[in-house]
Amino acid sequence: MIKPHGSDTLNPLFVYDTEAHHKLIQEAQSLPSLLLNSAAAANAVMLGAGYFNPLTGYMNLADALSVATDLKTTGGLFWPVPVINLTKESGVKAGQRIALRDPNVEGNPVLAIMDVTAVETVSDEQLQLMAKEIFGNTDPKHPGVQVFTSLGNTLLSGPIQVLNFSYFHSDFPDTFRTAVEIRNEIAERGWQKVVAFQTRNPMHRAHEELCRMAMERLDADGIVIHMLLGKLKEGDIPAPVRDACIRKMVEVYFPKNTVMVTGYGFDMLYAGPREAVLHAVFRQNMGATHFIVGRDHAGVGDYYGPFDGQTIFEERVPAGALEIEIFGADNTAFSKKLGKVVMMREAPDHTPDDFINLSGTKVRQMLSEGKAPPPEFSRPEVAQILMDYYRSTL
Ligand code: ADX
Repeated sequence: MIKPHGSDTLNPLFVYDTEAHHKLIQEAQSLPSLLLNSAAAANAVMLGAGYFNPLTGYMNLADALSVATDLKTTGGLFWPVPVINLTKESGVKAGQRIALRDPNVEGNPVLAIMDVTAVETVSDEQLQLMAKEIFGNTDPKHPGVQVFTSLGNTLLSGPIQVLNFSYFHSDFPDTFRTAVEIRNEIAERGWQKVVAFQTRNPMHRAHEELCRMAMERLDADGIVIHMLLGKLKEGDIPAPVRDACIRKMVEVYFPKNTVMVTGYGFDMLYAGPREAVLHAVFRQNMGATHFIVGRDHAGVGDYYGPFDGQTIFEERVPAGALEIEIFGADNTAFSKKLGKVVMMREAPDHTPDDFINLSGTKVRQMLSEGKAPPPEFSRPEVAQILMDYYRSTL
């Protein structure tokens, strides 16, 4: 099986030993505590679940800057996006052991315990520099930049021990999976060649066919649809609705036992190409051998070029840094001439009018008016779930 990133075995930071776990929960009650922001909490969940292997906790400022500018820690580990606990001034001191409280669960239970090795101040210039590197811009209207630059100027770094998976286990019991669980299931199924598919959308025909094309062209044993279950920007479709759409689409249109429908607990960064690389890292950690990157991967608005998410792998990822391979896909759309979804570059005789290309805005408008998008764009079963959802929001 493919090795995790940066180590021979996966090292999730969740405390699996029941007795140790129990003791830590008790200890946490008497520790000073810090209420995390959602970004830092999401990092803790990913660290706990093994997705951010081989990291052992939150990065310090030198590592965060090095990762932002050079895609590697000061120790030389390849890593594309800083994994940090950036907060407002909290009074926490270096050397303290603290309980990290969950902002996303009622009552703010303890999510993890942290040994704080350093408390550093990040200047506004350093924040802007990191934002520019990670998101490609510093526009305060960019949803990722907006979150990143509003977290605070205090960076707490050090190792953590994770005690639960926030709201993801309870809210998505059938879908949330740790990297450990996905690795185990891939091994149980005996899959050798495994394609991972990232998504934050209900899957439309383009997404579905992309998965099918990758499976067929790579002659893969199976595909792991791995949806984001954390926070999205306003206007994006809530995870339970996307989950229902994806499950329906898989049930009706894919052969049995070729697809695993799963999800991970992380907030969307909208960091385009950098996020594409982070996505690849954690798909390797969960045991996938291939990762689909299509058009405008993890993008938002027109901040990124449509294929920046693919070219970054050639331009910024050193040979051998990752074992997982990228399945780079061109824009896919339904061809009226051929009567099927194709990659546009593979239909060179087509004019733009030969494709059915609906914008997200147009589809949202149709759904909110109770109209189903055409079957060439969305499967009718998926369209129905979406229409029901939109109607319920009126
Ligand atoms: S993302 O933010 O998670 O990337 P989305 O769920 O829409 O958004 O996309 C999931 C994956 O499908 C990404 O790799 C994206 O590039 C790809 N993709 C989505 N739509 C298309 C399309 N029409 N053509 C090619 N690739 C696409």
